[in-house]
Amino acid sequence: MSEKAKKLSTEPYKGVRDFFPEDMAVQNYIFGVWRKTAESFGYEEYGASVLEPAELYRAKSGEEIVNEQTYTFTDRGDREVTLRPEMTPTVARMVSAKRRELGLPLRWYSIPNLFRYEQPQRGRVREHWQLNVDLFGADSPEADAEIVILASRIMETFGAKDSDFTIKISSRAWLDKLFDDISADLEGFDATFDNKNALLKLLDVKAKDPDRFDREIVKLHPKLSGDFIARKSKALQTSEEKSYADLEKLVATLGNMGIKNVELALTEIVRGFDYYTGMIFEIFDTDPSNRRSLFGGGRYDDLTSLFGGERIPAVGFGMGDLPVKNFLETHGLLPAPKSRTDIHVCTTSSELVAKAEELATKLRAKGMNVSVNLTSKKIGDQIAWADKRGIPKVVVVGEEEAKTGKYKAKELATGAEAPL
Ligand code: HAM
Repeated sequence: MSEKAKKLSTEPYKGVRDFFPEDMAVQNYIFGVWRKTAESFGYEEYGASVLEPAELYRAKSGEEIVNEQTYTFTDRGDREVTLRPEMTPTVARMVSAKRRELGLPLRWYSIPNLFRYEQPQRGRVREHWQLNVDLFGADSPEADAEIVILASRIMETFGAKDSDFTIKISSRAWLDKLFDDISADLEGFDATFDNKNALLKLLDVKAKDPDRFDREIVKLHPKLSGDFIARKSKALQTSEEKSYADLEKLVATLGNMGIKNVELALTEIVRGFDYYTGMIFEIFDTDPSNRRSLFGGGRYDDLTSLFGGERIPAVGFGMGDLPVKNFLETHGLLPAPKSRTDIHVCTTSSELVAKAEELATKLRAKGMNVSVNLTSKKIGDQIAWADKRGIPKVVVVGEEEAKTGKYKAKELATGAEAPL
């Protein structure tokens, strides 16, 4: 390299994260709780490539995701390829491909990495890992309940209390009905897909930015306002409306299971994707420092019909690694870091490394994780190195130990010694 050549940056690409060993330990802890909880409900793990044909997301996703947030490129064979921004279209594709062999219902989970060209901010990055849990082939309110209960059980397994988070629930079916009622009352505000989407987008904005909501709602129709929507919404909160009765039943079922931190947030939770058809939900941290949702999901009964063949009812959710990590940090729920190495073998001279390796091999055969000193550092420094890494024990291989074959393990926290 010439003297003038520019040095490469050590920063990762904008909005993605490097995982140093201590970060990886946290990540593995989160994944471990996800796996354990999903499997405890009988869910099986699946996987797929990060590469998908771009058309998969054009067919049915939120407009924002497709137009502004995907990483899409043309490959050498002139195909348009997208780095998956979410897992739901992929899993719907996989289930549709093998529907006959698979045998419904299916309980599936996965922990894919996803790519979204978002503005990096607290809790939002351009590559994140997301637990996806989906139940295919069951369309009852009990199936909806199973998914929300599983989500809530994950929070419990992380050690969260009811007061730490809120489950907000709504329904696309109910919102569709509300939209029909609103458009029936407003001349010139027809029940079109575009009008509906515009209204949903504004409802999504309302809680985050009420001023923007007030400014923009009148642009949709001069008679539209927060009050108008609230009135229409009130009138539709009746058990005669099936989509509302289903939600009441869901909340009651959750209550019977001891899940009380549920809130009907009918015109607040709308979800950003077009494919939802029924119950939708999000889970929020009650601590205001984590404003964005921890989980989001709902029922999507039509997505598999994109691939032809019969429609398969489905319900599920996605939960991001970063929002969860922020939640665990905020509430002091991250377990203390712990080394996976059980013992470090120190040596008093380089001639003894072979002996140390021999001892390490024996200990590994007994199931221990063992590292061996390869440096010419002093014993004290070797022990300090092990301590910095949180390795709980050391054993010293010196002339005497090598001769007698008698070794003592020393526990660093207490100084206690015991024969190995
Ligand atoms: P989503 O609401 O887009 O839903 O994402 C679900 C969760 O993923 C969010 O609540 C958040 O925890 C996390 N997440 C999303 N984007 C980011 C980001 N840029 N950085 C960090 N975390 C993020 C879906 O993706 C649906 N496909 C979920 C689903 C599965 N619905 C049914 N089944």
